[in-house]
Amino acid sequence: MKIAVTGGLGFIGSHTVVELMAKGFEVVVIDNLSNASVEVLDGIAAISGVKPQFEEMDLRDKASVAAFFKQHTDLKGMIHFAASKAVGESVENPLLYYENNLGSLVYLLQELQQLPEANFIFSSSCTVYGQSKTLPITENAAIQPAMSPYGNTKQVGEEIIKDAANVSNIKSVLLRYFNPVGAHPSANIGELPLGVPQNLVPFITQTAAGLRKELSVYGNDYPTSDGTCVRDYIHVVDVAKAHVVALQRLLDNKNTDKVEVFNLGTGKGSTVLEVIQAFEKVSGKRLPYKIVDKRPGDVIAAYADTRKANDELGWKTKLTLEDAMRDAWKWERKIRSIDN
Ligand code: UD1
Repeated sequence: MKIAVTGGLGFIGSHTVVELMAKGFEVVVIDNLSNASVEVLDGIAAISGVKPQFEEMDLRDKASVAAFFKQHTDLKGMIHFAASKAVGESVENPLLYYENNLGSLVYLLQELQQLPEANFIFSSSCTVYGQSKTLPITENAAIQPAMSPYGNTKQVGEEIIKDAANVSNIKSVLLRYFNPVGAHPSANIGELPLGVPQNLVPFITQTAAGLRKELSVYGNDYPTSDGTCVRDYIHVVDVAKAHVVALQRLLDNKNTDKVEVFNLGTGKGSTVLEVIQAFEKVSGKRLPYKIVDKRPGDVIAAYADTRKANDELGWKTKLTLEDAMRDAWKWERKIRSIDN
């Protein structure tokens, strides 16, 4: 059964390709290599024993998208990860984000709806909830005005899919990720941020590896247990497995709506200081950090109500924050050739 994975060489995409292949799917990876390396294919092959098919392609090129679908009329579904995801960059270059995250989405859906099986899994984000008034956050929590063009592309992306599904054979699952972290336990694939990492966990592992002097903790007077922000950190392998479950649900026609939404989180919130402690525990290293000003736009606390994903999707996280920190550190050590 052939499945296309856009952004399949990225962080969550590559882990999902591995899980799809483990379940016997034939995978075609699409990536424009703008924020990923072609060597990730070797990492996937080291785990799966086979290299997936790879098409280097920019989804903003409408003609290439059309040609891809002409060549792969036997596709049974698509998992769409390819998107830009840096919040600050999206404020500086909004039109790039709208073109990359929404233009491409439109082209994909235009082609997909012509296939007999138009199953589509979309990477959305808990950013759509903003600072939710209620915690844990259910899928019914209010969508808040987006804080950035990046956040807006996720909200509008969801709307585009719903509108398209209304008038076509498209079926879709929108997965709202909380904070995916970690790496494959084999250390063959993991996160590869370009330049200085903006996200917490790659910054921690790069600091421990000696690439950064110290971690800046953004604020410690939030109304939380220790004053630092709370997030729901979920192991990337658990996130990847949820995509396979969601896809299978569409393939088996088990979905109850043409477009369904599920939160992907653990249900447990952790503060920034708890993440640092978890890292120190599994690595045996002290992490240098200092408290600095709050980062504009950060919400105080966000963690998922996982009941809908657990009950309806039949998926549950298996890995812990410590597992994620151990695997992220193992990966960082491998790519930096650090022995201890
Ligand atoms: C951010 C985005 C989110 C996006 C996600 C994926 C914001 C407000 N949210 O999530 O929309 O989907 O990235 O790219 O930008 N922290 C530090 N020091 C650091 C880095 C982070 O203290 O050097 C703290 C942050 O204040 C936050 C937590 O660590 O409390 C997690 O930050 P991060 O990994 O950037 O994720 P989010 O901000 O939750």
